[in-house]
Amino acid sequence: MKITHCQIAHLKNPMGYDVGMSEVSYLIEAAEGEKQSSARVRVATDAAMTNVIYDSGERADISPLGFPLPCTLEPRTRYWWQVEAVTDAGDRGASEINWFETGKMDEPWTAQWITCDSSIRRHPIFSCNLAPEKPISQARLYVTALGLYEAYLNGERIGDEYLTPYCNNYHQWLQVQTYDITAQLAKGGRMEIWLGNGWYKGRFCFVSDDHNAPGHYGQEWGLLAEVHVTYKDGTQAVFGTDESWKVRRGPIVDSNLYDGEIWDATLADTESEPVSLYTGRLPSLHDRLSLPVRIQRQLAPVEKIVTPRGEQVLDIGQNQAGIFSLRVHEPRGKTVKIRVGEIMQEGCFYRDNLRSALAEYTFVSDGKEHTIIPHFTFYGYRYVCIEGVDDVKPDDFRALVLHSDLDVAGTITTGNHWINQLLSNVGWGMLSNFIDVPTDCPQRDERMGWTGDAQVFSSTACFYRDCYAFYRKYLYDMKTEQGEMNGAVPVVIPRFQLDEPDGSAVWGDAACIIPWNVYRYYGDPSILEQCFDGMKMWVDFITRTDGDHMGWRTHFHYGDWLGLDNPNPDEITLGGTDNAFIADVYYRHSAVLVAKAARVLGKEQEAQEYEALSDRLLQRIRDEYFTPTGRLAVETQTAHVLALAYGLSPDVQRTRADLRRQFERSGNRLRTGFTGTPLLCPVLSENGMDDLAYQVLLREDYPGWIYQIKLGATTVWERWNSLLPDGTISSTGMNSFNHYAYGSIAEWIWRRCAGLQPLESAPGFTRVRICPMPHRAIGKVEAAYQSASGLWKIGWEIDGDQLTVRFTVPFGCTAEVELPYAPEGTKPGTVGCGTYEITYVPTKMLG
Ligand code: BGC
Repeated sequence: MKITHCQIAHLKNPMGYDVGMSEVSYLIEAAEGEKQSSARVRVATDAAMTNVIYDSGERADISPLGFPLPCTLEPRTRYWWQVEAVTDAGDRGASEINWFETGKMDEPWTAQWITCDSSIRRHPIFSCNLAPEKPISQARLYVTALGLYEAYLNGERIGDEYLTPYCNNYHQWLQVQTYDITAQLAKGGRMEIWLGNGWYKGRFCFVSDDHNAPGHYGQEWGLLAEVHVTYKDGTQAVFGTDESWKVRRGPIVDSNLYDGEIWDATLADTESEPVSLYTGRLPSLHDRLSLPVRIQRQLAPVEKIVTPRGEQVLDIGQNQAGIFSLRVHEPRGKTVKIRVGEIMQEGCFYRDNLRSALAEYTFVSDGKEHTIIPHFTFYGYRYVCIEGVDDVKPDDFRALVLHSDLDVAGTITTGNHWINQLLSNVGWGMLSNFIDVPTDCPQRDERMGWTGDAQVFSSTACFYRDCYAFYRKYLYDMKTEQGEMNGAVPVVIPRFQLDEPDGSAVWGDAACIIPWNVYRYYGDPSILEQCFDGMKMWVDFITRTDGDHMGWRTHFHYGDWLGLDNPNPDEITLGGTDNAFIADVYYRHSAVLVAKAARVLGKEQEAQEYEALSDRLLQRIRDEYFTPTGRLAVETQTAHVLALAYGLSPDVQRTRADLRRQFERSGNRLRTGFTGTPLLCPVLSENGMDDLAYQVLLREDYPGWIYQIKLGATTVWERWNSLLPDGTISSTGMNSFNHYAYGSIAEWIWRRCAGLQPLESAPGFTRVRICPMPHRAIGKVEAAYQSASGLWKIGWEIDGDQLTVRFTVPFGCTAEVELPYAPEGTKPGTVGCGTYEITYVPTKMLG
């Protein structure tokens, strides 16, 4: 037996993280038997596991999906842990010894917050000399800032993360990062910490198009850093920011997330000056939850284009998000300007759809050779226009792709090149928008954690990557905001808009839907434990708003955002489905989820309370929107999809038939927006309309996913018609080429086309429905999914009239197998772990 994937709080050997309920999780592989029969977890304060502080003893109730450690943890302490397991066949094994190290926790800081004259835009570099007195056995840096920071020791970068201390509501809480600097500090030396503006101090959100607009959260830079050293003789020392630190101004003249950065290499650093103590408003400090944002990939340009306007443009070949490196060697005083865009128009560089975001980099040369790498900004782009270099050499440029560290979960390929490209586009769209916060888009003057987008994409995301820790941080942000808004869920999390509406149906329901999805995918109830109050608060907020006169219906809602069926042809953002209907449906859906979460957490009374509420709401929906003969009176595709998805219809046969009619009326073209699209194909399939689901997916003209690809898309667009059929942009007001919401189609490709369907009754993929639906236009599928319960594999292939289905069920799991159009007698039913292959002649084949 092998015990692998050992994690605590869904993190591998984390240093300085808030580990929450410190739940451990692991996988059993290559074991004899069908399932684990018992396990034992031990925690110690030494790597040899001799000083054990917790021993669960051998127990049958330890779930590999998440077992909370009942340990009281000390700050700045490393713990080691190990799990041993036994299977029902008596196979035994032990994991390697894993560790986690706590951060500052609630320990008071000896360091003081320092600052400088923040009215000067030129960015500060804070520094001090560290002089360890004796040989060091261990050194840690605990650091955070108001603004963004990059820390260096003797000129060498500490860690490799970007955009620290990351994106939260800086009025509420601030994350502290921990770095192991033992090796770097061995010789002592100079610590320098550069600050930039970022989310805290830079222009952000829609408040102003003025590139010099003041920061969103604050105007004053702040830095707090503490170095804890343990010497080889066991004594300790602490060095922290205080008035002995110095500050000077470096070469970065300005920066912000939307407009980019300005580097003037001709400027000599200013003289070092004393720092002052920061006395302004301070949020609470919190050990990090954010995953590291790192450079994950480098992409070389695929082509250099000299445009009809004479611009030198590099095509990276892939829309993505991140920074870049550019080698330059230009005469002193010459300015190099790098601008980025997502598409070309009329063969020329184009970026009007970035709205007020300048998305550029300005470099003033000092005559020496430099490699430009932005520090305190990021971009969403495919094309790069470079000015100020006579002959741009593609080899001098690399796109540096940034996103949060997320382990790959699923890989999938099909026999259809359009679908493969679509799956790639969805994956790139996700990663471009998983830079610490699940954002709507990475390029224009927006890049915020829109709740609706995050909600509709959350289960798709979990098919691509391991997202537990990523969403845990976002959901922590959400609950913290709700605490300040009486339960309402701001439409963007963290809250950036000053006059924003206090939630909208579908968007605010993220507070219930995302935790439930994370629970469904990972099977660890800790996420529900963390989010339950927020889930309840959201539903209670709606109940209060609803009052006695159904006020939720008339509250502000985005509805079926960007749906194509608004009867007013000039309305290009709001879909045609009645917002009141959508509001009622999601009110009920969230109430259902609160009840389900309450059941999981053993909160029986709350379960009953919210079940009763959801029953009342179901009745209200039926009374209001269904006619006495069972017709849904909201006559749109999205309304019918919602009715079937959420079990609202009193006459399912009728609603199904009406949904098909809705499609026939529109020439079998989808008309759905952000709300209807993610559920569209799943609902069609669940209701016996796989043929229609495939038609929608495979359609090559407008509107659809392949239409975008045929027009060159390498990520998923915000609008069905972001580009018109002749390749011109349809509008510039709100038109991103890298929005993941419609990428949620990939979930259906996984669940139905491939046929790996997680069951709500068995969270964490312990039991899965294997139910592929082959289609001749797809030909074959090969997919592997590293689930919380082990590696599932599934594939199928059509060969003439024959179909072969292959799948692997991991240890401890079972599969309910539903072979498509299988003749009687070939259905294997429920199977346990193992690898299976079945070839047969189906009674019917789509396509
Ligand atoms: C964003 C969205 C978001 C929407 C809300 C847009 O500006 O980019 O994706 O959900 O506003 O209506």
